[in-house]
Amino acid sequence: MMPAEIREITPEQATWTALVEHLQRVTMARHALVDGAAKPDTYYFGACIDKQVIGHISIRQQPIIVPASPLTDNEALPLQRDHQSLAETFVQTFAVEVDHQRQGYGRALQQAALDLTARLGCYQMRSWSSADKQANYALKLSMGFAVFPALYPMPGGQPISGAYFVKIVYETSESKNATLL
Ligand SMILES: CC(C)(COP(=O)(O)OP(=O)(O)OC[C@H]1O[C@@H](n2cnc3c(N)ncnc32)[C@H](O)[C@@H]1OP(=O)(O)O)[C@@H](O)C(=O)NCCC(=O)NCCS
Repeated sequence: MMPAEIREITPEQATWTALVEHLQRVTMARHALVDGAAKPDTYYFGACIDKQVIGHISIRQQPIIVPASPLTDNEALPLQRDHQSLAETFVQTFAVEVDHQRQGYGRALQQAALDLTARLGCYQMRSWSSADKQANYALKLSMGFAVFPALYPMPGGQPISGAYFVKIVYETSESKNATLL
């Protein structure tokens, strides 16, 4: 059994301070937080051992939007399905501290984030990961994520090589029926 427990952590909880300390140890506080506080529309899960947080994932809920170009009269197009706007979660940050890696916490954190994404009624969970994150690539492939190699346009800088990873969590009526059969 895993000694750490995977829990959603909110700023109101005592564990929030331990999460912030962990984010600082893995140097991800700048990306996971805004001015040291929770980002809007963002959910945080921690891998907790006693009062310590040793791993985390943060995901932001957002609409799925087709980018603007002259083809769309320079208007961004929110994607719809059955006249309903589609949303996704996008992974902001994800890490397990070195001493606790290869014990299944990364996979368990991803699964908790996927489960929440489904509960929120989103269509998919998506992330982008630079080409130097080979452990993360192996983890995502082991969990059946689709992979979309792409350059990431860094604001004001050179694009970075990497890949988007996407997993659908949306249950169609067909897939629900298939589960019932
Ligand atoms: C990516 C990361 C979060 C994985 O966390 P983890 O807790 O070690 O992952 P898990 O133990 O759940 O691994 C699950 C599976 O992923 C794969 N995997 C994970 N790390 C791997 C590695 N270093 N080499 C090869 N495969 C790896 C394996 O298939 C593994 O299953 P197995 O142990 O049964 O073989 C961790 O390596 C990390 O924090 N890296 C630095 C930060 C980072 O890259 N974050 C993501 C992008 S921002």
